[in-house]
Amino acid sequence: MSRFSGISRLAMGVGMTCLALSAAQANTMQTQSPSVEKESFGQLPDGRKVEAYHLRNGHGIDMKVITYGGIITSLRTPDAEGEWADVVLGFDNLADYRSEAYRQSNPYFGALIGRYGNRIAEGRFTLDGTTHELATNDGANHLHGGERGFDKRLWTAAPFENDSEVGVELTYVSEDGEEGYPGRLETHVTYTLTADDEVIIDYHATTDKATPVNLTQHSYFNLAGEGSGSIVDHRMMLNADAFTPVDDTLIPTGELRDVADTPFDFREATPIGARIGADNTQLAYGQGYDHNFVLMRDATAEDELVLAARVEAPDSGRVLEIATSEPGVQFYSGNFLDGTLIGKQGKAYEKRSGFALETQHFPDSPNQAAFPSTILEPGETYQSRTVWRFSTQTPTP
Ligand code: GLA
Repeated sequence: MSRFSGISRLAMGVGMTCLALSAAQANTMQTQSPSVEKESFGQLPDGRKVEAYHLRNGHGIDMKVITYGGIITSLRTPDAEGEWADVVLGFDNLADYRSEAYRQSNPYFGALIGRYGNRIAEGRFTLDGTTHELATNDGANHLHGGERGFDKRLWTAAPFENDSEVGVELTYVSEDGEEGYPGRLETHVTYTLTADDEVIIDYHATTDKATPVNLTQHSYFNLAGEGSGSIVDHRMMLNADAFTPVDDTLIPTGELRDVADTPFDFREATPIGARIGADNTQLAYGQGYDHNFVLMRDATAEDELVLAARVEAPDSGRVLEIATSEPGVQFYSGNFLDGTLIGKQGKAYEKRSGFALETQHFPDSPNQAAFPSTILEPGETYQSRTVWRFSTQTPTP
């Protein structure tokens, strides 16, 4: 039996701490009707139009999502003083997401990742006796769904709004054999912006043949504002007592390693940069952090929301909490950004100018029998939820 049967209904907001003021509370001046507006975001070479959905909640938090790749192109939140900034890396035009420089660097800014977030060793797995060959687009390995994953596909969109929430449901049908994967996978991802300053990401998928599925969202955050420099001063708590060490091609060895006494121990909030330069083989392989952390669930049932991470930007006081129904989170400290891409404000995205926390099943699970299964069977529904909650606290210079 795979993990997808008998999934419990996921409660919103479970596991979030209430230590910080919500961004809304910090901005009681800001009240307006939540709204969702459709805008044009250009067109693809084959003429298909790309739309942007502009979501706003009652406190003024606003987020733009485009139908190309389901990419979140901007997300503006207030800091502790009520100053607003866009806290995700990205671009304000389609061409920059499709440029040669972007393809070369392939950072997956803000995109939905599928069918399989993270790596599959040598682009190969065997399922029910059949070996499937996938693109090897990351050295010898398969990464983030292949040459043209869900991040480079056009999704259809259905916006919605009610008294307290606005959102957009995106749909993409991945045909049998696409990028080498078996089965026709119908995927729905819903972004909801709530009155509590949360972005809820709900993933659903069904298939007609057994196939691996591991969907995630690849936003890069900089809580001081995108383009404002390095994130190594951000203090981060990760609710993980183990991580999955990797080989030099970033494929897990299969071990779950205790984080105690290693630079991977973020159980207490610690600046991202405090140990990033340590003499450590795992950090050398990732050129920094690029590792899957195993979330602690204690009494929280598998598939229910658990707090995964809490990140604070010291000067602005912005706080991001992430809760998820997934068993793991890939913490990537933006090590491969190299200043060649120029962001929305015209500033170069240098190394470590953003971080990603990709909630997920563990990398290479199709080849790791001891990891939680990522195989979706016909008749089952893949369900996964991740919640980002934005708030502020007193800045700590
Ligand atoms: C993930 C991977 C990284 C890198 C980024 C995108 O985080 O684990 O190695 O590929 O995506 O550059």
